[in-house]
Amino acid sequence: MDRRLFLKSSLATAGSALIASHLSGEQMIPSGPSTAHFPDGFLWGMATAAFQVEGAWNEDGKGESIWDRFVHTQGKVKGATTADIACDQYHLYPQDIATLKRLNQKGYRFSVSWPRIQPTGTGAPNQKGLDHYSRLVDALLEAQIRPFCTLYHWDLPQALEDRGGWPNRDLAGYFADYAGIIAKHLGDRITIWAPFNMPWSFTYMGYGVGAFPPGRTSFGDFLKAAHTVSLAQGECFRSIKAASSKATVGSAYGMSPAYPKTDSEADRAATARYHAMNNVFFLEAAMHGRYPKAFASETPYDLMGFKPGDEKIMLSPLDWVGFHYYNRRIVSDASSANCAGGGGFSGTEIEVDPSTGRDPYTRFQAVMPTEGPLTEAGLEIYPHGIYDLVMQISREYNHPIIEITESGCSYLDGPYQKENGRVPDTRRINFFRDELTELARAIQDGARVRCFHAWSLLDNFEWANGYTERYGLVHVDFRDQKRTIKDSGLWYGKVAASNRIDA
Ligand code: FCB
Repeated sequence: MDRRLFLKSSLATAGSALIASHLSGEQMIPSGPSTAHFPDGFLWGMATAAFQVEGAWNEDGKGESIWDRFVHTQGKVKGATTADIACDQYHLYPQDIATLKRLNQKGYRFSVSWPRIQPTGTGAPNQKGLDHYSRLVDALLEAQIRPFCTLYHWDLPQALEDRGGWPNRDLAGYFADYAGIIAKHLGDRITIWAPFNMPWSFTYMGYGVGAFPPGRTSFGDFLKAAHTVSLAQGECFRSIKAASSKATVGSAYGMSPAYPKTDSEADRAATARYHAMNNVFFLEAAMHGRYPKAFASETPYDLMGFKPGDEKIMLSPLDWVGFHYYNRRIVSDASSANCAGGGGFSGTEIEVDPSTGRDPYTRFQAVMPTEGPLTEAGLEIYPHGIYDLVMQISREYNHPIIEITESGCSYLDGPYQKENGRVPDTRRINFFRDELTELARAIQDGARVRCFHAWSLLDNFEWANGYTERYGLVHVDFRDQKRTIKDSGLWYGKVAASNRIDA
């Protein structure tokens, strides 16, 4: 069989298997130990985000971000902690890059803090901010590590929130200007760009349900914010490409494979709405200049502030598709429920009261099942999900190049005196082993995945959960910034060097 046809047919089979596997209960079978090989040149990396690791919150001319304001407001963050210092990576980056190198990493996904570059979100750039990222990128290249730049990992300049925040469509232009500044200064050295980290999450949690700053609870504001972000994504795509001929632009979307709760037509349709809203809303806007069918009735264009011609602004065919995988969702129809909206943030998603639907427009209930083991952050571990998700996106978007931009788990293991201060975090090793085995299988079945970024290089500031969760492959003692490579970090370093996983 011709390779393209083979690829198509294996992806199609995987697609129909996706729904069947949940219904048959097949997902309950743990994937178990096995050996997996990755293709030559597969790129192993780790990820962080500026607000979660940098600290130096008001140094060298940096402006205030909405997250600075949030953490400085009493009652918002567990443990009353802030990210004022976090991992102090603003100063300690040479040490962190040396650790990446020691662990054989070939990629580092970091984000740029917008208010470090433009303290009030518009106007002339802050040279000290640009110099910092320039030094970081040089140090990465020196260590032969590919710099992957995310332009927005949630830390909006507070001054722009004061001008209406993401529901104000002017922000699309401001964001493109900011992206152009960065690409002009760093585009000679950076080739991989993602405009936004998890656009659905920060718009929905910030404006729809208020779990994140700025804490608004208006579905209309969420829709407007989401549309501005789609426009910003398109404008940014063009401004990066105009500033740097080497640039490739992709994404860092949050995605969860979704499975219908029952085989009913209504639950299947609700699952499709979940996928459209939570997984591919912004991807579809970029790739095709349109929104997917995420709503139970017509797309509420008026409420979104959609204007004629916006489809052309949104259109920005990505060079590669990046997404995170943490866990799965079981979805059911909520057409007849009293959809009140609301919910709490679980680490990667909004959890709603299962007795009601999520909002009056999408009308589904999406629940994180607890059939598999839970991490210490309470997220279900479901290794097979990465296989399903990668195959589904491959099938739906004509086999794009894929980068896994994040995946990881929180466990609180720390240095153990009896073992000479080692961090024996066996549960994290098992998590990555099972998941990467599933990823290798997806690649063997034709998916063009070229890179995996583990979340995270370091234990860091986990948003509203403060320091109560630890996702790092390197332990950080936040009292003195001492870093200790966990056993999982050493293990992942070996995987990176050998390009394979041994049972
Ligand atoms: C993702 C975020 C990242 C981190 C991990 C645990 O949702 O992109 O910043 O918080 O979850």
